[in-house]
This record gives sequence, structure tokens and C-alpha cells, in this order.
Amino acid sequence: MDNSIISSLAEELDDMNVEYDSLKEQSKEFKKTLDTLRSLQKTCMSMVTHQKKKYKQISKSLQCHSKDLGIEDRPRLEELQRHVAEKQKVCDEIHESLPRASEGFLKLSLGQVSVSLLSKAEKFDYKEEYECFKLYMSIIMMIVSFFTTFIVDYRLFDAQFHFLLVWYYCTLVIRESILRHNGSRIKGWWVIHHYLSVVLCGILLIWPSGVSYDMFRNRFMAFSLYLNCVQVLQYYYQSGCLYRLRALGEKSDMYITVEGFQAWMWRGLTFLLPFLFIGYLFQFYNAIFLFQLSFHPDANEWMVPASAIIFFVLFLGNFSTTSKVVLTKFQAKQKKGNKKL
Ligand code: COA
Repeated sequence: MDNSIISSLAEELDDMNVEYDSLKEQSKEFKKTLDTLRSLQKTCMSMVTHQKKKYKQISKSLQCHSKDLGIEDRPRLEELQRHVAEKQKVCDEIHESLPRASEGFLKLSLGQVSVSLLSKAEKFDYKEEYECFKLYMSIIMMIVSFFTTFIVDYRLFDAQFHFLLVWYYCTLVIRESILRHNGSRIKGWWVIHHYLSVVLCGILLIWPSGVSYDMFRNRFMAFSLYLNCVQVLQYYYQSGCLYRLRALGEKSDMYITVEGFQAWMWRGLTFLLPFLFIGYLFQFYNAIFLFQLSFHPDANEWMVPASAIIFFVLFLGNFSTTSKVVLTKFQAKQKKGNKKL
């Protein structure tokens, strides 16, 4: 090798030494900070757990003794209750901002790993990414179900589509459990809905080709096509809410106000709700169709009544949950309106 090349490489290595030493220092500093952070985290966790327990006990005692107090002691009692409630709220916020080990389903699926998102920005980013994931998957499934409804009628292709649905709903269950772990108010029903959808798509996957499958197949593909179109509309509603909530949380002096957010939310809901309820009627229709199909002399597979039951439960759960959500929002809006008058 040429002598000059060796000297230039040696020179380059010498130059790198400075950066290498600095990297070693930084890494040492990082490990030290991480140890401090871990010990701080441990201290905060044990302090906040203790505080929460104590406030809970005090709150219970105040509640118990409230009946024995005279009228003159009431203001003092109410003041103490307010004080405890405020402290409990702050403790809850601190508790949520600390990394926690996963519990229940998450622990079972992911093991003892922390999935806590520590800042509001991280939570919003994760939710945004989850909404985008749902949008892209809905578009893919919309295209696939369009093909399977109108162009391709091939059992193997159907099976691939059903497998994609099983995977999609499993992924949603995990992502939504992470969101709930980080304080999202996603209703338990939507998680149950995804579990049931996994079972339903699993049943469709193993449903053998035959009279009953052929009779139901086109209806299911058309239903999937419709559902995915609605999910795209849902994305615009949910991401619009998220964008406005983020803007409200980050800058209170922004052009978006709480009233503005609520007006937008109601416009979005009024647009979305008819499509959602048509989807629920479609589920009810599928349940009835499958129920009638189960009496067909050539439809002996257990998959027919099993899917009929799942479609019916999905219809009931979706219809009642969405109606309850809208009713609660409407009552809250009325209450606010009355307070202003
Ligand atoms: N899936 C996942 N998350 C949902 C959800 C759903 N179907 N519905 C609501 N959420 C989330 C919201 O994003 C919000 O999250 P956050 O706490 O992290 O901000 C939380 O749950 C509370 O939302 P909520 O105030 O109850 O409702 P909303 O205004 O966000 O949405 C609906 C109301 C009716 C539009 C919504 O619940 C919905 O789209 N429901 C229909 C879903 C459905 O039927 N799917 C099957 C179609 S056949």
C-alpha cells in the first residue's frame, strides 16, 4: 500500500480520537443521568403511591364523619374535601407522568415492559400515528374489498383478506390498550368490538368453501367495503378532534377556542352519525341473513350461527355505545347552554 495513504489514514484516526474521547465522556454522563433518573422515578413512584393512599383514606373519613357534623362545621368540611380533591388530581397527574409497568392484557402480550408515554406531545404523536395507521389500513382494505366484491371471486384470495383483517384487529387491540394505559378515554366496548372482530374474521378464515360460504361471501365483502369507507370518514372526524385538542392544550390563546372545538365536533358528528347507523343496520341485516341461512338444508357449518350471533352482538354493542356517547355529549351541551343563560 502507498505510504502516503497510510499516513493520511493515521492522521484521520488521530482526528477521530478527540471525538471518540468526547463520545466516551458523553456516554458515561448519560449512564449517570439514567441512574439518577431511575432512582428519582422510584422515589417519586413510592411517594405518589403513599400520598394517593393517604388522601383516599382521608377522603373516606371525611365522607364518613360528614353525617355527624353540625351546620357550623360544614364550610370547613367542604373546604377540606375540596383541598383533598385538588391534591388527588395533582397526584393522579404525577402518577400518569411516571413510567409504569404494563398490566393485564398488555403484560400478557408484551411482557413486563413499560409502554408509558411521558409527555403530552408524545401521547398526541402516538395517537396521531395510530389514526394514520387506521387510515392507511382502511384505504388498503377498501381497495381489496372492492376487488373481492366486484372483480375477484377466489377462496384463497378471500382467505388472505380475512387473515389481513385478523392481523389488523389484533394490532388495534394492542395499540388501543397502550393508548388506554396512557390515559385515553377509549370506551371498553371498542376494545371488546375488536376482540369480537378478530373472532369473526378468524371464523370467516376457516369457513370451508360451500353453499353457505358462497351465499354469504358477497354480502360480507360489500359490508367490508362500506365499513372501510366509513372508517375513512371517521379518520377525518377523529384527526380533526385530535388536532384541535392539541392546539387547545398547547396554546390557550390560539384561534381555536373550547366553543369553536365543540361547534366543530357537533358538525363532524352530525355528518358522521347517519353513516355509522347505516353500518349498524348492515350488521343487523347480516345477523338476520345468517340466522335464516342456518336453517338452509345445505348450510350445516357451525360458522353460520356463530357469525350470526357475533354480528348481532356487534350491532347491539355499537348501537348502544354510540347512542350513549351522543346522548352524553348532548346532555353536557344542554347543561352548558343552561349555565350560560
Ligand atoms: N375506536 C377507537 N377510539 C375511539 C372510538 C373508536 N370507535 N371512539 C372514540 N374513541 C376515542 C376518542 O378518540 C377519544 O380518545 P382520547 O381520550 O384519547 O381523546 C376517546 O375515545 C373518547 O371519545 P368520545 O368522546 O367518547 O367520542 P368521540 O367524540 O371521539 O367519537 C364517535 C364519537 C361516535 C364518532 C366514535 O365513538 C365512533 O366513531 N364510533 C363508531 C365506531 C364504530 O361504530 N365502528 C364500527 C363501524 S360499523
